[in-house]
Amino acid sequence: MENKNKIQTIRSLVSKIGFEGRSLLSINDLTNEQIYGLFELAMKLEPWNRSMVPLVTGNVMSTLFFQPSTRTRMSFETAMHRLGGAVISEANPLVTSSAAKEESLSDMLKVVSKYANIIVLRHFDDRGAREAAPYSESPIINGGWGHWEHPTQALLDLYTLYRTFGRVEGLKVCIASADLIEARTGHSMAYGLARLGAKVTLASPSAKRTPQEVLDKIHEIGIQVEEVFDLNQDTFNELIMGMDMIYLPGCSAPKGPEAEAFKQVMDSYLVRYETLAKVAAEQSRIIYVTHTLPRRAGEMDLRIDNTPHQLYFEAIAYSVAIRMALICAILGV
Ligand code: CP
Repeated sequence: MENKNKIQTIRSLVSKIGFEGRSLLSINDLTNEQIYGLFELAMKLEPWNRSMVPLVTGNVMSTLFFQPSTRTRMSFETAMHRLGGAVISEANPLVTSSAAKEESLSDMLKVVSKYANIIVLRHFDDRGAREAAPYSESPIINGGWGHWEHPTQALLDLYTLYRTFGRVEGLKVCIASADLIEARTGHSMAYGLARLGAKVTLASPSAKRTPQEVLDKIHEIGIQVEEVFDLNQDTFNELIMGMDMIYLPGCSAPKGPEAEAFKQVMDSYLVRYETLAKVAAEQSRIIYVTHTLPRRAGEMDLRIDNTPHQLYFEAIAYSVAIRMALICAILGV
């Protein structure tokens, strides 16, 4: 009886969210009400994120990943299995699909959407992905496109924040990276945080600041974010003492001769364990740290892993529930 009531609630939440049949290309495709609706739905689904609730039986998800992934592909596939759906996957389509025979992405999406009710696409070329998406006859979820956006990573990180603090509004969050041009998760998260009323600080080298297009869009919705440039490790650690959360979005690192110089810039954005411990001791306050992962050797102080400051592994568990919620909202239950 209790499960029956929960499923009734899930149905009414899906209907209230009103996202059935829609694609999620950008975090801005969702209204604030829809984001909060997804949080509410995810909380209802959390009890099943290690078991199964047959809400989308008979539906097929296709995961097409033109770039490597551990978390995004596996958590979407886990979420679909937990909901009783099936998955068909291409984890290396440039080798194992007809993309290797130069089939266009638009043809591929047109074909795969004849099989699958929903497609999760990761692609290195965001412009190409955006141009090809309308050819799909099924809803598409952006699983990370070029340097543009990674909306479901932002959604899961916003959900983690919401589950940790019980709110997003008013929280002070610093998004920090050696390269905020290429940090697609940083772009989606900046939109999401700003729209939900967090106080956002963007810390990066001035040469690698957040793209103007992202800043313009945030300003268009009447929100101010602060930018801080060219900090060193000392000044960065001073800055983060005033934050509630530090958000470290992964970005591509150059290889070859530029790699060493990039590592040195990355070092300026190292969150010191001592900084977090000092604030905890002096102010009885936890500064949380999250990283979208994967992280590189030396990028983080690993002592944070086993402390209450760590949110990056907590977010992995929340990712399944919020992706279950998104799948239900798109497919209906
Ligand atoms: N955070 C993230 O997108 O991880 P993957 O590249 O492993 O999917």
